Amino acid sequence: MNSTSPHERVKYWTVAPDAVQHMMNLNKYLNGSSIEAKVRDLVRLRVSQINGCDYCIDLHTRDAIRDGEQTVRLEALSSWRQTTHFTPREQAALAYAEAVTRVIESHVPDADYLEAARHFNEKELVDLTLVIAVMNAWNRMAISFRRPPQQTPIAENQAADKESRKGILSPEMKAAVKNIRLCYVATASLGGVPNVSPKASLTVLDDDHLAFANIASPRTMKNLAQNPQLEINTVDQISRRGFRFRGTAEIMESGPTFDLVANEIWTREGPNVPIHAVVKVHVTAASEVLSPAYWLNKGISVDEVRRAWAARYGYAILAT
Ligand SMILES: Cc1cc2nc3c(=O)[nH]c(=O)nc-3n(C[C@H](O)[C@H](O)[C@H](O)COP(=O)(O)O)c2cc1C
Repeated sequence: MNSTSPHERVKYWTVAPDAVQHMMNLNKYLNGSSIEAKVRDLVRLRVSQINGCDYCIDLHTRDAIRDGEQTVRLEALSSWRQTTHFTPREQAALAYAEAVTRVIESHVPDADYLEAARHFNEKELVDLTLVIAVMNAWNRMAISFRRPPQQTPIAENQAADKESRKGILSPEMKAAVKNIRLCYVATASLGGVPNVSPKASLTVLDDDHLAFANIASPRTMKNLAQNPQLEINTVDQISRRGFRFRGTAEIMESGPTFDLVANEIWTREGPNVPIHAVVKVHVTAASEVLSPAYWLNKGISVDEVRRAWAARYGYAILAT
């Protein structure tokens, strides 16, 4: 931290909880906004590095790791211009984030803005600018009041970290599970034989748990009984974006969670669907998956990808 005193000054989140809650609400908006998790994490971390905010660097490094970011990219972030680890869209976001953060000297030059505008549409540019602005605000609070970084090592910190963040599943992830309505569940036997099968019953239980129904999945269930580790992918075939969730399964043949999931399916699909069990998934890692279409076609927007793929499948887009 670029400071002279290491001593904490004011616990601003207890002195002005309402103000902090409003800032958290902005974060909540941004976590479900048009800016994907990977770019959000990188930008937040880079801005915090420029401002020299130890607390925020620590927090957003943890976030990035939780979202599946690679260590090699995190290590290269402060000198991203000298590496090949970042996509053109990420590079444009990082250059723009640096210019907006250093606004006093830079006044956000055309070159950085126009490069960002090649990779982000207007809504995304507004959301991206807000990610940067809000991060700068958090940095200024933490630096001015000398908020210390968390003391818990990253590996041991997941539970506490999640508590303060309300859980691993972002609003965007939860919306994707609800809207995409199809996922693939990957399991492995004790001997390591892989198995992947589709499920249309995936649902969100809370900020850390998903669930799906065993209607006709004998091999998935056999594997989970031996080895509860699983990965679930859900990808929207039109926008070519989705999420991957890793976690641990708990099999439930009755009880409130079983009733909740089963009733939802019976209400939607009719009472004859045989539900043998509900698999509750404790999500331990969640990250976005993005088609290379986004970084191979510089500046392409989500709407453009949707239009292109809807046309390929012969679908009409009724609403964007
Ligand atoms: C679109 C689609 C959705 C499906 N949804 C479910 C589901 O939610 N639950 C389930 O048990 N089976 C579901 N199935 C059926 C299983 O995927 C299928 O029976 C598969 O062969 C099970 O394989 P497994 O025994 O390797 O898990 C679905 C199949 C398709 C094609």
